[in-house]
Amino acid sequence: MCGIVGYIGDLRATDVILNGLKKLEYRGYDSCGISFLDSSKKEFTTYKTVGRVDLLINSFDYNVENKVGIGHTRWATHGEPNQVNSHPHSSSSKRFIVVHNGVIDNYLELIARYLEGVKLISETDTEVIANLVEKFSQTMSAEEAVRKTLSLLEGSYALLIMDNEEVNKIYAAKNKSPLLIGSSDKGITFGSDLMALVGNSEYYYLIEDKTFIVAKTNGKPDFQAYDIIGKKVKLDQHKMDLADNEIDKGGYEHFMLKEISEQPAVIRRILAKYMVDGKLKISDEVKAKFINKKRIYIIAAGTSIHAGFIGKYYFENLTKIPTEVFIASEFAYNQPLLEKDGIFILISQSGETADLRACLVNIRQMGYPSLTITNVITSTLAREADMRLEIFAGPEIAVASTKAYVAQVTVLAILAYSLAKEKSFDLGFELSRVSIAMESLIDQKEYIEGLVTRKLKKRNCFYIGRGIDYYTSLEAALKLKEISYIQTEGFAAGELKHGTIALIEKDVPVIAIITQKNTSHNTRSNVHEVKARGATTIIISLESVADNSDDIILSDVHQMLAPLLSVVPTQLIAYYKAKELNLDIDKPRNLAKSVTVE
Ligand code: AGP
Repeated sequence: MCGIVGYIGDLRATDVILNGLKKLEYRGYDSCGISFLDSSKKEFTTYKTVGRVDLLINSFDYNVENKVGIGHTRWATHGEPNQVNSHPHSSSSKRFIVVHNGVIDNYLELIARYLEGVKLISETDTEVIANLVEKFSQTMSAEEAVRKTLSLLEGSYALLIMDNEEVNKIYAAKNKSPLLIGSSDKGITFGSDLMALVGNSEYYYLIEDKTFIVAKTNGKPDFQAYDIIGKKVKLDQHKMDLADNEIDKGGYEHFMLKEISEQPAVIRRILAKYMVDGKLKISDEVKAKFINKKRIYIIAAGTSIHAGFIGKYYFENLTKIPTEVFIASEFAYNQPLLEKDGIFILISQSGETADLRACLVNIRQMGYPSLTITNVITSTLAREADMRLEIFAGPEIAVASTKAYVAQVTVLAILAYSLAKEKSFDLGFELSRVSIAMESLIDQKEYIEGLVTRKLKKRNCFYIGRGIDYYTSLEAALKLKEISYIQTEGFAAGELKHGTIALIEKDVPVIAIITQKNTSHNTRSNVHEVKARGATTIIISLESVADNSDDIILSDVHQMLAPLLSVVPTQLIAYYKAKELNLDIDKPRNLAKSVTVE
């Protein structure tokens, strides 16, 4: 969702900020803007536009000396995506300039109470912040005015604020929305995502909620952090271990294809990270929390919830602990009856999904233990849960999640296997087989491209499967719809005939996933039913249950791990369909990579 970058230092601020905003594009946005100090005029210049960062770069002249600035990519929440609503926002006298991620819940009350008579030009909650600071600065210092404003805000925010009367300073603050600081001897960078700091920061610092920061250049660029009562705090310094080349396309036409292709290597990396003395192992601390637990509760959203369903299958089969899976946005406000001896697992690629954070607050209040499984170990959910497991997928840039899903399922398998009392197979060996099978499948991607051209010709589509194949169908359908905009449903194969089969007519594509011995026969019957009604079918099957005429036959792997392999052709189907339709594959419309509002 929205992205923030700010810079103060010796480099040209607009270079650092625009470069950072480009790196945040993957998060999804609809407009963008930048404010920077034109050193010759000693005042801030603001440029904004609806559309891409490239437009912002190409439409304006940055060829002036400038060393301080803030920038923003906006994903509209309050007010439509237009130039007026895009950030940065100024106070009415133009003294204070603000960029903001998050949602201020009480902004209407604040207008009514403090800003009577102030003319607001946008529909945003952010403009209210700029004007509150301005109002309070009439009777106190700018720093005190920022603090007073922060004390009134209810909701989520990552904020950067500049003051035209003290141009070598940036104020920053955070509550619930992510914000990090990067540093090098060349300057201080702020970013709402670690990616924005890559390339110009040697170190980075995580910021706790309700922290207030003042960054300034008095000769050397530096910053000081303060806690909620204004006491100085020292932030932990971390070495930046991401390089620019880890977040580029590496010769691929799209990030999504690169990330699909990385999946075999991701499985191998996870194996290396979780292998201790030749055995797959989860830390004793995590294992101990599962002792005597009568229920496992999994909470997630989107693709991560589909990984959660597969996790349920693993936990119930390997550990015999009943497991329930909940949609985060539902669980947060419609809580079901819970078992006293339960444990919660939150699955999130980004670790920043606001719906999940709302759940975690409840879970902690109720005193349940919590474990976050995430790709971003520095994320809010990773830090706020009692325990965390990293999935080691590496940066995932395409909005459509692929390698993170495979990594989530792999780590869930390792966790369930580690907790299992009896181990009837060698998971490490079986996962290696999966990675090899994946590689040969990805090598045949052009074949799948051809299949898409021949068989996917309608504006709707169905994926069907049973058991874990049904869960894969759900993920496959989400992938196809989110990047190709084809209306797709993932369906339990046996349920189709209870109503939805009415939608099957000539040439409607029905893609069946068949990897499980106990249900392959039944799913094939369902394929016959739709064929008889004119559907165009594609069958994806595992070699051990395949028929020679199936369209995509996957090399045999352990049946439990089949979801890791069978999802790959569905990712490629989505990719090639979106490519054929000439769509923006990595940044599909209306979507954000990390959904930081509820
Ligand atoms: C995946 O392709 C989606 N874009 C989306 O459903 C995503 O999985 C969901 O928003 C959850 O994100 P998270 O894993 O970062 O919490």
